[in-house]
Amino acid sequence: MRTYLTKILDWQTDDVANQYDELPLWSSPFGILLLDNFPLGNYEQYLDIGCGTGFPLIDISQRLGSQCKAYGMDPWHAAINRARTKIETIGLTNIELLENDASILPFQNESFDLVTSNLGINNFENPLAILKECYRIMKPSASFCATTNLNGTFQEFYDVFEKTLTDIGLANKYESKYSAHVNHRGTISSMRELIEKSGFRIAKQIESSYQMRFLNGSTFLNYSVVIVGFIHPWRNMFDEGDRQIFFERFENNLNEYSELKGELKLTIPMAYFECRK
Ligand SMILES: C[S@@+](CC[C@H](N)C(=O)[O-])C[C@H]1O[C@@H](n2cnc3c(N)ncnc32)[C@H](O)[C@@H]1O
Repeated sequence: MRTYLTKILDWQTDDVANQYDELPLWSSPFGILLLDNFPLGNYEQYLDIGCGTGFPLIDISQRLGSQCKAYGMDPWHAAINRARTKIETIGLTNIELLENDASILPFQNESFDLVTSNLGINNFENPLAILKECYRIMKPSASFCATTNLNGTFQEFYDVFEKTLTDIGLANKYESKYSAHVNHRGTISSMRELIEKSGFRIAKQIESSYQMRFLNGSTFLNYSVVIVGFIHPWRNMFDEGDRQIFFERFENNLNEYSELKGELKLTIPMAYFECRK
């Protein structure tokens, strides 16, 4: 049925305007990497793990077509609500949302053709359990496609962070907390090891990067994406007494660095992995 001949999505309505304002900028470069590469097919079942507010679930499910049943899974209640509103706004009937931790998937063995995850694998508490579950539910011909940011994210920022710790004589005191934080992000080889440990073989791997530009350290530290998604481990690394001292000097150092360079340009290395059974 040609619903596109009759369907109306009125761009003057709030819901459609919200729908248009769809994707967080942070997710977008990773999303492009995923959308440019995931294998298309005449699929029966598709699952997006860590779908958040609906990306890439809503996009990919439309690209695959309504004959493919799509599932999005995420334990984040508010995000699932937001995804539901978007799905209802567009009027998609082939997507089901599950507000769950993906380490137990309520699906039969070998029942999915495609599983995706944009910026999920680096955020899961137990990524190995989730990958093993994905492996279990995938058909022998299926693909698991995931993107992640890598160790080296905001390298320029961390260089100044480290210099500041040394400047104020706190490098030794915070050495282990600092390196645990920096190394919680995977490298290409640790990601490969994780994926292969779950049983998958990596059929395709693409490495890329992009840069975010800010006037200086002050604008970066106050950036909404930083406050929502990044500042907590930086703040929590320090004892109460050291926190103010560190951040005062750090912000100054970042601002000096930015002035010297003419801007604060931060690199975000990213990777796409396409995995098969
Ligand atoms: C950085 S967000 C990415 C969201 C979305 N895919 C995007 O590209 O905008 C990571 C997502 O993983 C979800 N997540 C964390 N742990 C999870 C788990 N155990 N099972 C499923 N999703 C999980 C978070 O709730 C969050 O929505």
